[in-house]
Amino acid sequence: MPNLTLDSNDPLILSVGGSLIVPDGGPNVDFLKQLRELVLKVIEQGRKIVIVTGGGKTARHYIDAASNVQKISDDDLDWLGIHATRLNGHLVRTILRDVAHPIVYKNPLAVPPVKEWQGNVLIGAGWRPGWSTDFVACRIAQLLDAKTVINMSNIDFVYSDDPRTNPDAKAYEDLRWRDYRQLVGDEWSPGLSAPFDPVAAKFCHKYGMSVAVVNGKNLAEVEKAILGQDFRGTLLS
Ligand code: UTP
Repeated sequence: MPNLTLDSNDPLILSVGGSLIVPDGGPNVDFLKQLRELVLKVIEQGRKIVIVTGGGKTARHYIDAASNVQKISDDDLDWLGIHATRLNGHLVRTILRDVAHPIVYKNPLAVPPVKEWQGNVLIGAGWRPGWSTDFVACRIAQLLDAKTVINMSNIDFVYSDDPRTNPDAKAYEDLRWRDYRQLVGDEWSPGLSAPFDPVAAKFCHKYGMSVAVVNGKNLAEVEKAILGQDFRGTLLS
């Protein structure tokens, strides 16, 4: 099983897949409660946390709805997704109001240094068409000198193929960026569903960053990853 070597002085960077926050049928209250608990526990240990929120089903429903009415440009579809990520960012900031910096950051390069935060948690959301919240998380990580991103999604591992359609798909625990990028390619499309955004993967590869892909439905595994213990998931590096 993989584990992370994290510097306890660095902020933890969590890219929280929107599918965890808003699966089909609206926001997942149980997940939000557990996320709040985990965050409170971690900041009690003196850690700072960045949480970047994805768009989830809200993004996908709005993108699909607009596309079903008429032909929409990729940029406009991305904007619908971006607003969904921002709505989720405000939701997460609101449930962490007592410990979170009051502003939800869209531009990752505008994020203030950790010592200027009000509170121990800072929330980020979608920024520009052609990006993803995974990419926003990586840019914030780089800005704050954190070398690792924890990508919380709704899958257990990165697989060699889609395990829902291919029972022989292999689950990876450790995967190099070169190999991951061969699996997912470099292409971007609005609402793309990949374990980790290919554009962000290219960025991490270039700057030597690592990403832990962990199933956020099981926050105990996320906690293990945060604590540097062996976790169930994939380490991309
Ligand atoms: P994400 O792809 O980041 O959210 O944004 P998600 O799908 O909930 O996250 P994962 O995959 O589970 O981690 C949703 C959509 O919003 C647009 C894109 O169309 C993206 O697919 N978006 C988001 C942008 O165009 N730019 C951004 O900076 C963020």
